[in-house]
Amino acid sequence: MRRNVPIYLVALSVVAVMGYPSKGAAMDLDATPRMTVVYNDLTSARHFSSNAQNYTTLLLEDEKGILYVGARGAIFSLNSTNIADGSHHIIDWKVSPERRAECLKKGKNNKTECYNHVRLLQRLNATHLYACGTFAFHPLCTYIDTNKFTLPTHFEEGKEKCPYDPAHGYTGLIVDGSLYTATRYEFRSLPDIRRNRQQRILKTEESPLHWLNDADFVASVLVRESMGSYLGDDDKIYYFFTERAGEESASIFDKTQVPRVARVARVCKNDIGGKKILQRKWTSFMKARLACYIPYYEILKDVYSLNNGDWRSTVFYAAFSLSAQWRSMEVSAICRYNISEVRTAFQGTYMEYQDSSRKWSQYNGEVPAPRPGACINNRARKAGYNTSQDLPNSVLDFIKLHPLMYEEVKPVDGAPLLVKKNVIYTQVAVDRVRALDGKVYDMLFLGTGNGRIHKAVVLGSKVHIIEDIQVSRVPQPVETLIISKKQRSLYIGTRSGVLQLPLSNCRRYISCFDCILARDPYCGWDGEKCRELAETPERSRMIQDVLRGNMGCLNNSSQATPVQKNRTVLRGDDVLLPCEQTSNLARAMWLVNGTEVLTEDGQGHFRMGVDGLLLTGTQLEFSGEYQCYAEENGLQALVASYVLSVLPEQLVPQLSPTMPQQSWYSPSSANGDGKFIYIAVITVLGGLCFVLSVVLLYVSCLQKRKGKYSLGVPQASSVELQTVSSNCMGKGSPEEEEEDDLGIFPDGCLQIIPGEATTLSSPSKEAPPAPPPPPPPLPAEFTNGIPTLPNMLRKMNGNSYMLLRQNEEPCTSPLYNSFTEELSKILEKRKHTQLVEKLDESSV
Ligand SMILES: *[C@@H]1O[C@H](CO)[C@@H](O)[C@H](O)[C@H]1NC(C)=O
Ligand SMILES: *[C@@H]1O[C@H](CO)[C@@H](O)[C@H](O)[C@H]1NC(C)=O
Ligand SMILES: *[C@@H]1O[C@H](CO)[C@@H](O)[C@H](O)[C@H]1NC(C)=O
Ligand SMILES: *[C@@H]1O[C@H](CO)[C@@H](O)[C@H](O)[C@H]1NC(C)=O
Ligand SMILES: *[C@@H]1O[C@H](CO)[C@@H](O)[C@H](O)[C@H]1NC(C)=O
Ligand SMILES: *[C@@H]1O[C@H](CO)[C@@H](O)[C@H](O)[C@H]1NC(C)=O
Ligand SMILES: *[C@@H]1O[C@H](CO)[C@@H](O)[C@H](O)[C@H]1NC(C)=O
Ligand SMILES: *[C@@H]1O[C@H](CO)[C@@H](O)[C@H](O)[C@H]1NC(C)=O
Ligand SMILES: *[C@@H]1O[C@H](CO)[C@@H](O)[C@H](O)[C@H]1NC(C)=O
Ligand SMILES: *[C@@H]1O[C@H](CO)[C@@H](O)[C@H](O)[C@H]1NC(C)=O
Repeated sequence: MRRNVPIYLVALSVVAVMGYPSKGAAMDLDATPRMTVVYNDLTSARHFSSNAQNYTTLLLEDEKGILYVGARGAIFSLNSTNIADGSHHIIDWKVSPERRAECLKKGKNNKTECYNHVRLLQRLNATHLYACGTFAFHPLCTYIDTNKFTLPTHFEEGKEKCPYDPAHGYTGLIVDGSLYTATRYEFRSLPDIRRNRQQRILKTEESPLHWLNDADFVASVLVRESMGSYLGDDDKIYYFFTERAGEESASIFDKTQVPRVARVARVCKNDIGGKKILQRKWTSFMKARLACYIPYYEILKDVYSLNNGDWRSTVFYAAFSLSAQWRSMEVSAICRYNISEVRTAFQGTYMEYQDSSRKWSQYNGEVPAPRPGACINNRARKAGYNTSQDLPNSVLDFIKLHPLMYEEVKPVDGAPLLVKKNVIYTQVAVDRVRALDGKVYDMLFLGTGNGRIHKAVVLGSKVHIIEDIQVSRVPQPVETLIISKKQRSLYIGTRSGVLQLPLSNCRRYISCFDCILARDPYCGWDGEKCRELAETPERSRMIQDVLRGNMGCLNNSSQATPVQKNRTVLRGDDVLLPCEQTSNLARAMWLVNGTEVLTEDGQGHFRMGVDGLLLTGTQLEFSGEYQCYAEENGLQALVASYVLSVLPEQLVPQLSPTMPQQSWYSPSSANGDGKFIYIAVITVLGGLCFVLSVVLLYVSCLQKRKGKYSLGVPQASSVELQTVSSNCMGKGSPEEEEEDDLGIFPDGCLQIIPGEATTLSSPSKEAPPAPPPPPPPLPAEFTNGIPTLPNMLRKMNGNSYMLLRQNEEPCTSPLYNSFTEELSKILEKRKHTQLVEKLDESSV
């Protein structure tokens, strides 16, 4: 059934076969978030948690300003204006000890399963919510009076409405008083789409064909298709899930495994089942393949639906990841579907199962009337079929055997909007905003499996990821996302709590360029600041350029130009001129005396890194004005500016006595007093090496004890070396000021000396510095998510630079608080730096 296998599949397959790290072509399939925001920078976020866990069910009532949260053993009512204001209410709904004992007796996991996981929270009527919980493998449901907000005394059996297992995919909706749920309900039972309460109870058919095969549900959506329908059509509920695909041949990667595919199914709201055939079963169940065209079989993670008031404008945004066969490779994709495309598939031809060949194929025979699976509409009513119970047997028999459609639902433009490697998107929420240009943009908020939100804007058939926001201190999946337009907030449910994040934080963009380049439809430059459009009534003077992301700022130069800094070094020494780019998409461009620095200057004296320009073996003629520009999307902004003075070595003896701690001159110049200093330095260095060796010895011992799968210290410290410089930059420590007063070398806080044994032409060989330790082999798991790490480390070791800080101030920046953050930041950046492209493998 693989028609139209697009170029996409081929392209990504090639990438997969070639493996990581992939360069060039592969980059086009991988969008880079422009900015990385770490947890500690989330100043305007609000956090709610209690001693409960698993905050997986959110229900927002925007008009009332209340966010209901279903967690493990509790339901909360929070003020959606500020979920952390302390005014919350709690319903404790825990499992009784007897029930818990029973659950444990069934052999369930006492750490996760034998609890009451609240899985359903829906508004029932003006006064009551309907809630269901797994209740230690004995599901219960209840009515909650929202005015009292206390635990009711009466409970209903929940086994038809709620899964037993908290880990099973589940989706539930209350539509006009009826409860529509889809999951695998009882232990070991088949998956099912059910309707309960009020209307007649309905299920999916299980014989002779299973309408659902090991389905894992992610979402359900009501589309009011009866509204304004001249056909007298019915409202429909759409279901999104992944299931085993009977119609597909076995996977080309694993012949034993039946492939799983993404599906969309739908039922009609006024279906009441058949009279004799399909009694208490849906007569309107139809399903179709949901294709996103990432190889090879896609797992659906989440679906979000939105429209502009008319159901005909409904679009579905779906998040996919690769299925198990591809676990060695993490890839996610976002696809967009029009409701019209979905409807077209359901109006197309059917598939049929051939018992003889045991295969599904297109059905080309006669189709009875009224059309099987269609809702009862005006035409059916005119023919005398007022309800599904009136349908003729021929139609009902046909429905029983033809639940699957031949056509697949293709994404808009026939390709994913976004493909991203090394990430699993678990959740998607979408906001629609009108920008200054009068156009409407869809803003995607994508939750990841490791506690991050990717905020992105849809630009035609492309997606620009504005920010990669860390929303959890520890990596944990984002379980639920809800957007409040009224509060302009995003609510994020995780295992450990709920986070309320403003949809935008324009103040993060510090200049007009930054504001424009971000392409954030929520933000505009008002001449002084980047601010929220929604908070700015006077918009005529605001600047914004979502579409191109580079217009408007050029002649409005109210930019703060960076302070020019002086740097002084001795001839032959090395110096790093720091230049931190806030944008992962920016390329650093350096001008010396007004002309661009070329990294291939023949001698390799200049090297561009992610955090600055490294000059090695400085010569007197290297003095001059150095300017660092951030080049992004055709714009160039000055980020840092230096005046470098290279001094001849002769000056050193006069300077060194006053600054004995500054051990950074060339050994050849040592004479007189200098000799004493020199020996002192050697001693200090020797001591340092000794300490380092001891530490390394200790660490290697420690590592052996920890087992071979821990990341060793050498890597961590190597990565630290890379950015230590920028952390120190601009920190006016007392020592630094003192130096300024003395008028000698008013430089920044770091200095580089070669740290490799061979480059230290030391006259006395008493203290040979320890060679840098080779990085320990990476465990197989790590070569997946962070494939580029080894190269980076080898690079660092190959260069063997030790960065020594002049001041002893601990370099703790809030920007860098964990190894993984550091790593992800570096990995994003390194794709765009020349240093990486010129990776010298021979330096291993
Ligand atoms: C939520 O808090 C805001 C401001 O603190 C207050 O005005 C509002 O009444 C509160 N809403 C509810 C439902 O308590
Ligand atoms: C779960 O069971 C294990 C032993 O089977 C026990 O050590 C542990 O304390 C139990 N945990 C809880 C939360 O009851
Ligand atoms: C809402 O439903 C509950 C439970 O069925 C019922 O007790 C209550 O009276 C209903 N409220 C309204 C306003 O209909
Ligand atoms: C609930 O949270 C715990 C950790 O807090 C996690 O181990 C467990 O898998 C979660 N359960 C579900 C059903 O998400
Ligand atoms: C369908 O409804 C119409 C009018 O509402 C009625 O005349 C007709 O008999 C009904 N048909 C059936 C089969 O019940
Ligand atoms: C999807 O719908 C939009 C507007 O609703 C339309 O512009 C577009 O052409 C449609 N695309 C497809 C593939 O139907
Ligand atoms: C400068 O900013 C003003 C609004 O503040 C805008 O109207 C004008 O077009 C801008 N100039 C340029 C050259 O972009
Ligand atoms: C800025 O404006 C001046 C005239 O005011 C114009 O000559 C110049 O080309 C503009 N520069 C850019 C980069 O738009
Ligand atoms: C840098 O040196 C120049 C003279 O060479 C001096 O005028 C300027 O003030 C110095 N800047 C700083 C920041 O020290
Ligand atoms: C920059 O200009 C100064 C004098 O104007 C010159 O001495 C120096 O060598 C120049 N630097 C470079 C790197 O060209």
